[in-house]
Amino acid sequence: MIVTVTMNPAIDKTVEIDKFVCRGLNRIRKVEYDAGGKGINVSKTIHELGGSSVATGFLGGNNGQVIANVLKEKGITGDFVWVSGETRTNTKVVEDDGSLTELNEPGALITEKDIQELKNKLLGYADQSTMFIFAGSIPAGVPKDIYGELIHLVKEKGACVLLDADGEAFYKSVEAGPDTIKPNQVELEEYFGLPEGTDITEIIRAAKSLEEKGVKNIVVSMGKDGALFLMEDYEVRCQGLSVKAHSTVGAGDAMVAALAYAWDHQLGKEETVKLCMATSAGAVTTIGTKPPSREVVDTLIKQVTVKKIGE
Ligand SMILES: Nc1ncnc2c1ncn2[C@@H]1O[C@H](COP(=O)(O)OP(=O)(O)OP(=O)(O)O)[C@@H](O)[C@H]1O
Ligand SMILES: [Mg+2]
Repeated sequence: MIVTVTMNPAIDKTVEIDKFVCRGLNRIRKVEYDAGGKGINVSKTIHELGGSSVATGFLGGNNGQVIANVLKEKGITGDFVWVSGETRTNTKVVEDDGSLTELNEPGALITEKDIQELKNKLLGYADQSTMFIFAGSIPAGVPKDIYGELIHLVKEKGACVLLDADGEAFYKSVEAGPDTIKPNQVELEEYFGLPEGTDITEIIRAAKSLEEKGVKNIVVSMGKDGALFLMEDYEVRCQGLSVKAHSTVGAGDAMVAALAYAWDHQLGKEETVKLCMATSAGAVTTIGTKPPSREVVDTLIKQVTVKKIGE
């Protein structure tokens, strides 16, 4: 069973404008709403791949209700802690030339009691047959090391953990030894204090040093340049697939979803890698964070080439 944890969900409101005028009146041509937040995006993609997951985290107010309804309509199980504030709306302004301006709200304030309730909920799911996915930012009121604490708790019960966070949330929780991580290249460079665009050999060396913390699978995504998969006795690099890019936002989440789906379906390592590459490339071809269809993923899988590192 896969359990996704979204601490800071959002309604993603994408508005289309010819050209954004700063300090002026902007007329919106088209508005689209979607249920978002990294863990929720992961759950949606797993569902599209034909798998299932339970989406958990914090929801509140009318926006929270909208997200819960969207998941229900899609047939995704939601089991959230309801908080007293309102789940945020994140506005994404897209201009004709493709430029993106984001206006992200801070989100509802979370109390100590809410956190305790979530812990109890997660512990209820934690056993050897569960993979937890901790993904995305930490809302106000929640300690930045919360993922680390939760990782310890669920791992003690034998559960498996996949972490996809950046900045402080990543630094503090990677110490707890999640089984799998999926930083992008920039996140990894920031963590190790390496300059932007560090060469691949150095990236591999740095990434592998995380094995000491108990991380078994390290996937470094590199946008259009593909990804590195450093898994126990299986280390490969894949070039990015050639696709028509619509929106690269959420490509990493799609890769996380594929990793979780592959774990749940006990796919072999090569099959896992191919599914990751195809699902993430497929996500790039869709608008916003919309998941790719399974059909598109199955077509793209045929394009993936896997190259052993060091060969
Ligand atoms: N332009 C692109 N063309 C083809 N594949 C892409 C492109 N951008 C991303 N991908 C695929 O998606 C994967 C993840 O992308 P990326 O490294 O940008 O993740 P990310 O920064 O974590 O994204 P996010 O956090 O927004 O979901 C890449 O490893 C690659 O397989
Ligand atoms: Mg990411």
